[in-house]
Amino acid sequence: MSNTAMLEVDRLVTGYGSTRVVHGLSLQVREGGVTALLGANGAGKTTLMKTLCGLLPVQGGALRFLGEDIGHAAADRRVLAGLVLVPEGRMVFPSLTVHENLRLGGVNVRARPRWKHNVERVFDIFPRLRERSSQQAMTLSGGEQQMLAIGRGLMAEPRLMLLDEPTLGLAPVMALEIFALVRRLTAEGLTLLLAEQDVHRTLEVATHAYVVENGRVAAEGPAAEIAGDPRIRQAYLGL
Ligand SMILES: Nc1ncnc2c1ncn2[C@@H]1O[C@H](COP(=O)(O)OP(=O)(O)O)[C@@H](O)[C@H]1O
Ligand SMILES: [Mg+2]
Repeated sequence: MSNTAMLEVDRLVTGYGSTRVVHGLSLQVREGGVTALLGANGAGKTTLMKTLCGLLPVQGGALRFLGEDIGHAAADRRVLAGLVLVPEGRMVFPSLTVHENLRLGGVNVRARPRWKHNVERVFDIFPRLRERSSQQAMTLSGGEQQMLAIGRGLMAEPRLMLLDEPTLGLAPVMALEIFALVRRLTAEGLTLLLAEQDVHRTLEVATHAYVVENGRVAAEGPAAEIAGDPRIRQAYLGL
């Protein structure tokens, strides 16, 4: 499996109705490690991720996940296959408790039999969520809500997690915790597609990187090469 792409995005066209945002974008996510999705605000990263997980329809091109054509599969089918989005802005259910939010993350038929075990695993990773298990999600700090959003994603037993702007709006110390967590999860075998504004730290944790501009791939390569390319750094990454 390590030599073939887990996720293949082939000349994808997508957007909001007649407003096209992604114009024939191709990328691959290989199993293991972090693939970074970089690019300015409005480049189309979130739109791409929403389309990958089935919240927006494919308007052109193809999506393959673990060799299966999923471009027209319903969102819940994609979760079953192991493709799980942790959305930008966390999107936890504010009036539900931490425990209820986690439980909802694990309702798919593949993960459901192990939900109790998986809640314990999430609580081991995030002891603060265990302490706040019966609190409503709206009472959590931004960083804790991000932990909850990631924990809810883990409850679905992802093979590939789409992690959209996890450090957005967080205090620097909390952002560091999130990056440490990304390392931990990938060390445990999870594959991640990570959209992030913190280019420096993202290129440190990533194996491969794509730079998106106006819904197209403007540059791509091993993260170390992207990080070391003065032209790319200056033109696209503001470094
Ligand atoms: N719900 C929407 N309806 C119409 N246009 C949208 C919507 N959401 C985002 N857009 C537009 O799509 C483009 C890409 O946005 P987005 O995918 O959020 O970029 P990024 O995640 O890279 O910041 C932007 O021009 C944005 O204004
Ligand atoms: Mg975004």
